[in-house]
Amino acid sequence: MKIITTIEELRDQLSGQLRTAFVPTMGNLHEGHLSLMRLARKHGDPVVASIFVNRLQFGPNEDFDKYPRTFQADVEKLEKEGVYVLFAPTEKDLYPEPQEFRVNPPSDLGNTLEGEFRPGFFTGVTTIVLKLFSCVQPKVAVFGKKDYQQLMMVRNMSRQFALPTEIIGAETYRAEDGLALSSRNMYLSQTERAEAPVLFQTLNFVAEEVRAGHLDVFEVEHKAMENLAQRGWQPDYVSIRKRIDLQPPTAGDLAQGAPLVVLAAAKLGGTRLIDNLEI
Ligand code: PAF
Repeated sequence: MKIITTIEELRDQLSGQLRTAFVPTMGNLHEGHLSLMRLARKHGDPVVASIFVNRLQFGPNEDFDKYPRTFQADVEKLEKEGVYVLFAPTEKDLYPEPQEFRVNPPSDLGNTLEGEFRPGFFTGVTTIVLKLFSCVQPKVAVFGKKDYQQLMMVRNMSRQFALPTEIIGAETYRAEDGLALSSRNMYLSQTERAEAPVLFQTLNFVAEEVRAGHLDVFEVEHKAMENLAQRGWQPDYVSIRKRIDLQPPTAGDLAQGAPLVVLAAAKLGGTRLIDNLEI
C-alpha cells in the first residue's frame, strides 16, 4: 500500500485510473470501516482510503484535539484489506491557506437533527468531502449508513454538483449486543459500554411502536427520550423522519405509509453517540 500525503503525488499515482473506489475516514479504524473497504472493492478498483481528522467539521467545544489518532494500527489494517493507496495528508497539505470557499448545505437538511446540535458540521463535512473527491476523482465513494444524514447530504451534493462520483451507502456494522461501531465508542467506560446498546434498543422500541400502528410520532419520540433520560443519558433527539428527505412526516405521510427512519443522538457520560434504524 502506498501512503501518500500530498495532493500532487496522489494525482500522479492515480492518473489514468477510471474506476477508483474511495473510502474517506478520520482514522481510528474498526471493523465498520473495514467493511466499507470491502464494499468499495466490489464497486471499483483500485481502492483508495483517506485518513484526515477534519478540523472544519468540529465545533469549538467538540473533541477535535482528543479524537483518537492511531495511524500505525490503521495502516496495518488497511494493508490487510488490500487498499492500494492511503491518502493521509497533513492539515498543511489539505488546507495550505484558510479554506474560505465552503459548501453551503441546504437549510432543510443541513440545520436539522445533527445540523441543529452541531452547527457548521455539515458545512465542514461537505467541504472536505468535495475537496477529497477533487483530489481522488473517484468513480464511487462509500459512506456508512450509521451517519445517515451525512450519507444523504453527500449523495445530494454529488447529484446537485453533477460530480462524477456515485455514492454508495454501507449497512451499519454492529457489535453482537447491537451497538453500532464508532471510533467514539473508545471513550466509553466499562459501565457505559454495557449501557450503550440501549440506544439501539430504543430505536427498535420506536420502530416496533410505529410498525404496530402507533402513529402519534411525538408521543413515541417523547417516551423514548424520557426512557433514555431516566437511565442517565442526555438525549439530543430521537426523531422519526421520512427517509426521502429526513423531514418530519405529516399525518398524510404516515397514512400513506411513507418510508420512515428513526434517528437518535444522545450523550452517555461525556460521549455523544448517534444511531438510526429504518422502519
Ligand atoms: O464520517 C467521517 O468519518 C467523516 O465525516 C468524513 C466523511 C471522513 C469527512 O471528514
